[in-house]
Amino acid sequence: MKIILLGPPGAGKGTQAEVLCQNFHIPHISTGNMLREAIKTGTDLGKKAKELMDNGILVSDEVIVDVVVERIKQKDCVSGFLFDGFPRTIPQAQALEDKKVDINLVIEINVPDEVIIGRMSGRRVHLDSGRNYHIDFNPPKVPDIDDLTGEPLIQREDDRPETVKDRLNVYLSQTLPLIDFYLERSRNQQLNYLKVSGLGSPSEVSDLILAHIKNN
Ligand code: AP5
Repeated sequence: MKIILLGPPGAGKGTQAEVLCQNFHIPHISTGNMLREAIKTGTDLGKKAKELMDNGILVSDEVIVDVVVERIKQKDCVSGFLFDGFPRTIPQAQALEDKKVDINLVIEINVPDEVIIGRMSGRRVHLDSGRNYHIDFNPPKVPDIDDLTGEPLIQREDDRPETVKDRLNVYLSQTLPLIDFYLERSRNQQLNYLKVSGLGSPSEVSDLILAHIKNN
């Protein structure tokens, strides 16, 4: 199963990715998490990405496509994977097709902008694993501590309200065109396209997605 999760920042892609990957035993490939890891370890990629990410600007298509193509060559991807935050532009999606990476399912998660701003300000992240929490909607057992490792949680630099607005604008101009791109492929029966509201609780949203997959 090869899945793409599509949706604005804060729609819940990372949250749903955890559930789907556990269910289908596929790796979670989050380009955002990979870039944050590269920043943490100080690689050349991390150095290039840091300022762009802190300001909500996309990393270049060329760089990100190379990173993803290398990642999906690894053994754990043989029976599929889930892309979270990739592709994010038409050239990235086109690059996947050029490399004959066939996608089975695109899941579009929709959440209005005003809800997104609230979600981002309450988000806390475990940097090493990418696990997400929310101080109200999905709190850790101990405030600011990761449930599984006991390590501290952080607030992302790009979750400041002014940066979130910029990220939403980038989503509208650069990522939204992917909806038509993949809907067209769904009409041609090249893949399955599912549109869900991300407004329920995290488990309500997962139940909707899993039910759709089971019935299709
Ligand atoms: P990335 O890390 O991919 O960020 P994003 O796409 O903006 O998405 P987020 O991680 O912010 O949100 P999400 O949809 O995963 O929501 P989450 O589940 O965390 O990218 C960051 C940056 O990296 C980009 O700006 C860019 O610079 C660069 N980059 C990454 N990929 C790139 C690419 N392909 N090309 C170029 N540049 C790239 O949920 C958010 C919060 O809400 C959490 O606190 C969560 O607990 C809570 N929540 C989730 N679901 C619910 C719910 N149903 N109800 C209530 N709360 C909920």
